[in-house]
Amino acid sequence: MKMLVTGGAGFIGANFVYYELKHHPEDQIVVVDDLTYAGNLETLVVAMKHAQFKFVKADIADRAAMDALFAAEKFDTVVNFAAESHVDRSIENPEIFLRTNIMGTQVLLDASRKYQVGRYHQVSTDEVYGDLPLDRPELFFTEETHIHTSSPYSASKASADLLVQAYHRTFKLPITISRCSNNYGPFHFPEKLIPLMISRALADQQLPVYGKGENVRDWLYVEDHCSAIDLIIRNGRVGEVYNIGGHNERTNLEVVKTILRELGKPESLIHYVTDRPGHDMRYAIDPAKISGELGWTPATRFDDGIKKTIQWYLDNRFWWEHIINGEYQNYYAQMYNQR
Ligand code: NAD
Ligand code: TYD
Repeated sequence: MKMLVTGGAGFIGANFVYYELKHHPEDQIVVVDDLTYAGNLETLVVAMKHAQFKFVKADIADRAAMDALFAAEKFDTVVNFAAESHVDRSIENPEIFLRTNIMGTQVLLDASRKYQVGRYHQVSTDEVYGDLPLDRPELFFTEETHIHTSSPYSASKASADLLVQAYHRTFKLPITISRCSNNYGPFHFPEKLIPLMISRALADQQLPVYGKGENVRDWLYVEDHCSAIDLIIRNGRVGEVYNIGGHNERTNLEVVKTILRELGKPESLIHYVTDRPGHDMRYAIDPAKISGELGWTPATRFDDGIKKTIQWYLDNRFWWEHIINGEYQNYYAQMYNQR
């Protein structure tokens, strides 16, 4: 199999590249990534040593560049991870989210159609379903839950999903879509909750918890997301959506307190700040379809995954210290100083 992995220098894309190199060493992988603030070539240093791996710096919304790449490489499979992925940034500046997440997807769909790709897989998110109330723990997102978005980020991801489904219905493009809950693990960019809290706690800095910290996220260790996508692209039914999640619901406050406990830091570091506008209350996935049809089950429980993740950040300080010592400081000041 020859696979295009877009956004492979980002958090989940890079973990997926390593998963594929380990489990399918016979396959060829081409990563396309435009190396935005979230893309990091250092993450792919080990992958670069594999003969089966190739990196191309390009923008997925650049039609000429994608056309030339697809013409030259003749991919069997496309897995689209490339996206603007941070809700808070989408509230500050929605436009780039529409360009990359919607227009970029359309360019990839057109190229996949023109060059007769055997499978186009769209990496989507449970955020397209909106949120669930805190007082109805029996409710979960299924693949039939209505699309009902809250942020410019989730609206752009939902728009992309609709386009992907339209290309299947109208042009018979062989697509699949996965909608996963919040991921955590190695190479997670420190603007997101878990790596932000780990890096700040290690420096004895205040930990900014939005609102009351009661919002619930359904956390999945990133390798479990990768194994699910791997199953879908190989065995999933064309035209289908698969939800991915492992029933690991935690409030933000629980997550932050767990990190503090593991690092031996005091809870007095917690600092409540103004809530995110439109903040989704609860995400929770029902993974019955992917479990029943494809036999997928997550391997890592949150209590183990969070320990492994914290250990990774302790062992790989060079990776995240480069990031937080650069442009990130301006980002942090802009987003949090007046909060
Ligand atoms: P990320 O922000 O860490 O990585 C995104 C990558 O895409 C970066 O390497 C960036 O350089 C690249 N990119 C951005 N714009 C590009 C463009 N125009 N052309 C080429 N490359 C571009 O994101 P992530 O957390 O790894 O998320 C990957 C995908 O998974 C996204 O589609 C996201 O919506 C989805 N997802 C994420 C989560 C999560 O918890 N992080 C959960 C469910 C779904
Ligand atoms: P995030 O990692 O941005 O993921 P998402 O918004 O896509 O779920 O945030 C996870 C949760 O943590 C979310 O409820 C917002 C909250 N949060 C904070 O309380 N403080 C922070 O500094 C960040 C980045 C997030």
